[in-house]
Amino acid sequence: MALHSGLCSRLIYSTHPAQALRTAANTLQCFRYSGRTKEENQRHAAYPEIPERPQPEQELVVARGRRRVLKDVLPFSEFLTDSFGRRHSYLRISLTEKCNLRCQYCMPEEGVKLTPRGQLLTTEEVLTLARLFVREGVEKIRLTGGEPLIRPDVLHIITEMRKLEGLKTIAVTTNGMNLARLLPGLKKAGVDLLNVSLDSLVPAKFEFIVRRKGFHKVMEGIDKAIKMGYNPVKVNCVVMRGLNEDELLDFVALTERKPLDVRFIEYMPFDGNKWNFKKMVSYAEMLDRIKQQWPSLETLPGDETGTAKAFRVPGFQGQLGFITSMSDHFCGSCNRLRITADGNLKVCLFGNSEVSLRDCLRSGASDEELLQIIGAAVGRKKKQHAGMFNISQMKNRPMILIGG
Ligand code: 5AD
Ligand code: SF4
Repeated sequence: MALHSGLCSRLIYSTHPAQALRTAANTLQCFRYSGRTKEENQRHAAYPEIPERPQPEQELVVARGRRRVLKDVLPFSEFLTDSFGRRHSYLRISLTEKCNLRCQYCMPEEGVKLTPRGQLLTTEEVLTLARLFVREGVEKIRLTGGEPLIRPDVLHIITEMRKLEGLKTIAVTTNGMNLARLLPGLKKAGVDLLNVSLDSLVPAKFEFIVRRKGFHKVMEGIDKAIKMGYNPVKVNCVVMRGLNEDELLDFVALTERKPLDVRFIEYMPFDGNKWNFKKMVSYAEMLDRIKQQWPSLETLPGDETGTAKAFRVPGFQGQLGFITSMSDHFCGSCNRLRITADGNLKVCLFGNSEVSLRDCLRSGASDEELLQIIGAAVGRKKKQHAGMFNISQMKNRPMILIGG
């Protein structure tokens, strides 16, 4: 037994849990499983004061062909764990391809060809997939679009999702146009987190960027969300040179009296958004400008997956963050999967490989068969994206058809 345990520790440290699991499932052996990921180890080293989640360490006897039994004892699904050990506990579901705005960075001016209605996921299909992913270990679902709040059944979908045991967080990314009106319903249905897109504090510029009117409606939505207790309300601001980079300090100033988390997002290339390197303002440049105004800007511990680098001006109610997908990607700790409105599973925002879960569902696939397909797609997920220049040359969907 001691020999086995020794071998097992080596197995765990030399390979990752899913690989260990797969190997183990094919042979009969025993190993010791440590539940801490590489990122958790790094975070623990950097912030030893932050409490860790409990670390299961248990001996398992694994018999040939008994993978389902394993699921009950291992802390995370093998289907949602990729070959680099990343556990995908965060699912983003796009509810619609339609939007009531036309943001320049998201969709081409001429619009996009919409998928016929019958090929979009139905309410039941969305809920079936949500149930399956949550059962496998997804803890957070974000509803995106297009604009998710224009889907008529959005409150019903959220109400039903709220009933899923194991789902800790329901988040919504919205452009804020219908937010003030829908907020009471969203709160009642169980939305935990709101991200509102807002790229300018100057109404005329807002209209230029989103190619529609609506600045005051969005601000009303943000203020109402604060009043209703959302804290923080996250504000997504895509920073583009020559358009809104001169408003960085105004956005930071907004966090003085409002519990906002303003997230400056590096401009990313997608089909039809006319991205070029010169239009992108890097994290380093943004930080430098903000520090000139507020040299005492303090660093905060980042979020779990390292997506945002977080800061606060001392004494300000809110905070700010940077999403540095281009200049400093966080692929190593990526825990996200996406389902597009037409039912394709996308394992990477910047990858064009997709698999249709809708077709599987409609051909009567069992949960087990769906999981095999999901597991295979997750297993093929690349270590990191191809780099901003390659991405800008690559065929992908426009952002509006992926889900922001
Ligand atoms: N670059 C960066 N972020 C984008 N989003 C959409 N398109 C882009 C892009 N080209 C994000 C924004 C927006 C959300 C819906 O999607 O954060 O708020
Ligand atoms: Fe609509 Fe959001 Fe895309 Fe803007 S970024 S066009 S609000 S989906």
